[in-house]
Amino acid sequence: MESSTHLTNSEEETIELGRSLAPHLSGAVLLIGNLGAGKTTMTKGIVEGRGVAAVEEVSSPTFTLVHQYGTSDNPVFHIDLYRLDEAREVETLGLDDLFASGALVLLEWAERFPALLPRDRTEIRLKALDDDSREIHITHVTVPHVTDTVR
Ligand SMILES: Nc1ncnc2c1ncn2[C@@H]1O[C@H](COP(=O)(O)OP(=O)(O)OP(=O)(O)O)[C@@H](O)[C@H]1O
Ligand SMILES: [Mg+2]
Repeated sequence: MESSTHLTNSEEETIELGRSLAPHLSGAVLLIGNLGAGKTTMTKGIVEGRGVAAVEEVSSPTFTLVHQYGTSDNPVFHIDLYRLDEAREVETLGLDDLFASGALVLLEWAERFPALLPRDRTEIRLKALDDDSREIHITHVTVPHVTDTVR
């Protein structure tokens, strides 16, 4: 998938973008943007577009951390790391196994833990332009190896 930039003017348009994107996604997908930017809203469309749950069934995993939609042959995982502060807390979630499984894994606030993420991933960046408008940039990246020390 090439990079693309989109403008949506309502929650429903962002859901629709997620639906249309869903068949083209695989592996780790980082949803990056401020509080209320639309990360969970986008997830609703992606989950519905994969055919594993309806929009109304998708809720934010802010407290539960990990939600799974669909059965083990076609799962979608939705993860929110907002409430975690330390990499060692994140490590207890077993993200490595999820990434290795090849399942679609949608992550909010995961960019806070760069060393724990696959280098090969899709990034969806959402930016609020005003109350109802969002600029949404989608790109596939392969980031360089992350080390603890940057010289
Ligand atoms: N164009 C739009 N796209 C997405 N959401 C929009 C749009 N316009 C308005 N909204 C509103 O913005 C809010 C987005 O909330 P959402 O829970 O998706 O954000 P989030 O990025 O997941 O935030 P958090 O970091 O708190 O989890 C909703 O209240 C939604 O109705
Ligand atoms: Mg959210």
